[in-house]
Amino acid sequence: MRIGILTSGGDCPGLNAVIRGAVLKGTEINGQEFVGFKDGWRGVVNGDILPLERSHVRGIAKQGGTILGTSRTNPFEGNGGPERIQETLDRLGIDAIMAIGGEGTLAAAKRLTDAGLKIVGVPKTVDNDLDATDYTFGFDTAVEIATEAMDRLRTTGDSHSRCMVAEVMGRHVGWIALHSGMAAGAHAILIPEQKTSMAQVAEWVQSAANRGRAPLVVVAEGFTPDHADDPHSERGLDAFGRPRLGGIGERLAPMIEDLTGIETRATTLGHIQRGGVPTAYDRVLATRLGMAASDIVQESAWGQMVALRGTDIVTVGFEEALGKLKVVPQHRYDEAAMLFG
Ligand code: F6P
Repeated sequence: MRIGILTSGGDCPGLNAVIRGAVLKGTEINGQEFVGFKDGWRGVVNGDILPLERSHVRGIAKQGGTILGTSRTNPFEGNGGPERIQETLDRLGIDAIMAIGGEGTLAAAKRLTDAGLKIVGVPKTVDNDLDATDYTFGFDTAVEIATEAMDRLRTTGDSHSRCMVAEVMGRHVGWIALHSGMAAGAHAILIPEQKTSMAQVAEWVQSAANRGRAPLVVVAEGFTPDHADDPHSERGLDAFGRPRLGGIGERLAPMIEDLTGIETRATTLGHIQRGGVPTAYDRVLATRLGMAASDIVQESAWGQMVALRGTDIVTVGFEEALGKLKVVPQHRYDEAAMLFG
């Protein structure tokens, strides 16, 4: 069996560990061969492949990014579509595709599988917003990076008696904000799932300042204050036509300053959260998912993806991974909110 691996959508730490896990288990145990598609679905559509043997994955579990490159190409556009892609796979002697990606990638993979292509999936999202898996690799690394940044913001905030606003990723869900904010002892955590008034934010900030603390406000990029209708976006659309987010922290800072009289500064962490070496947890999770993905190819489990349930790696259908976001449940937010202010 000759398998083409692709990484698609936004990158995150751990992609290379998945590739390594799949290639090692596949070549050493399952008798498989591998190639890599360059830049996600673009490589599939254009038939652009790289060799992927054991020697190519040596030492890459600890490397950030993806050795294959990634893009947000839609495989149904341009020269894409199931028939053309199948012709390309036949020409290149590729029997099956292993697609490592988020909701957009898996939705495309499902459509192609429904049309007869042989595809298995590995879920990827730094936001941790796929309901079908308990955790996605990259999330733990992003939380570590964000927490470390907040620890730093707190010391400079303390020196100047300022309120510090830290903006983190999280388009639809607030998992990175919730976890890093709790870890850093934030005085308010603002997430897309919870509309919050500026008066409430100011109350939390004032209460922390009254105790002599420099308030830390953590905000997810997709947060919408209760006076607004949509998340803040000032950067146009991405390749999927979705608004590019980022900048809500800078918007909130002057409002907090106006309401409380406390000097306030905002920092947007942005893509720093997606770069650099993965944590040990993410390397292990990603390696296990890659190994399991090699196994489900062996079982011809087309239209299935590997996922984490508890501490076990399981197999679920693409349809289960699609259409349902893993939002922060009310009780998790309420638990964190007990410590606000
Ligand atoms: O979906 C993951 C994510 O990191 C979001 O949190 C963020 O809105 C988006 O990707 C950024 O995408 P890009 O890398 O295209 O700027």
